Amino acid sequence: MSKLLSASLMCADLMNLEKSVNELKNAGIDYLHIDIMDGCFVPNITLGFDLVNSIKSITDISLDVHMMVNEPSRFIDRMNLDKNDYLCVHCESEVHIQRTLSQIREKGCKTGMAINPQTPVESMKYLTDYIDMALVMTVSPGFAGQKIFAGAERKVSDARKFLDECGCSHIPIEVDGNISVENGAKLSRCGAEIFVLGTSSLFLKGKTLKQAATEFREVL
Ligand code: DX5
Ligand code: ZN
Repeated sequence: MSKLLSASLMCADLMNLEKSVNELKNAGIDYLHIDIMDGCFVPNITLGFDLVNSIKSITDISLDVHMMVNEPSRFIDRMNLDKNDYLCVHCESEVHIQRTLSQIREKGCKTGMAINPQTPVESMKYLTDYIDMALVMTVSPGFAGQKIFAGAERKVSDARKFLDECGCSHIPIEVDGNISVENGAKLSRCGAEIFVLGTSSLFLKGKTLKQAATEFREVL
């Protein structure tokens, strides 16, 4: 699978979001990463469902929605997502995560299962039939501008090895949190294939989005 870039919109210029989306299209970004937070599962509140639907209506870039909310099954039908979009939910956020993943599949979009730094990769073992993408968090979720956690490289390597041994080499690993050019290069070698780019590598003062995205791709 080719290496894909997913731009974290919570890090974009929120006062000029449509302009940013158009620039991201021009920069060749593959997905728009939209972080939804409820202030409970993570101690922050960011973008909402109406914004997801507004963004969906103005662009053909596929969406990569990351739900950092408790009991995300309550909200799946609030978003107009299609077969090209990912809807990622945390296995730590729902008692019956298999049911939630099934509901997302029935909705017709691609599933993502996200795991926090402390969550073992084995948590995916019995759910791989319901997972289209594994989101391995490289920070404890909730805020932009954090530092990658110490075991991130080892965990991404372990996740790739684990999925391959399960016969699931078709499931790509996405990484999210402090994906700088340096961290991206290392995590790419560990097996990461989708990179969530925010303040660490894409939304940088003094660089256009196109320049930053091009420089990031060069190290993959
Ligand atoms: C973390 C967020 C990400 C990301 C932002 O909870 O989901 O969008 O960290 O990018 P950085 O970490 O580079 O600011
Ligand atoms: Zn995210």
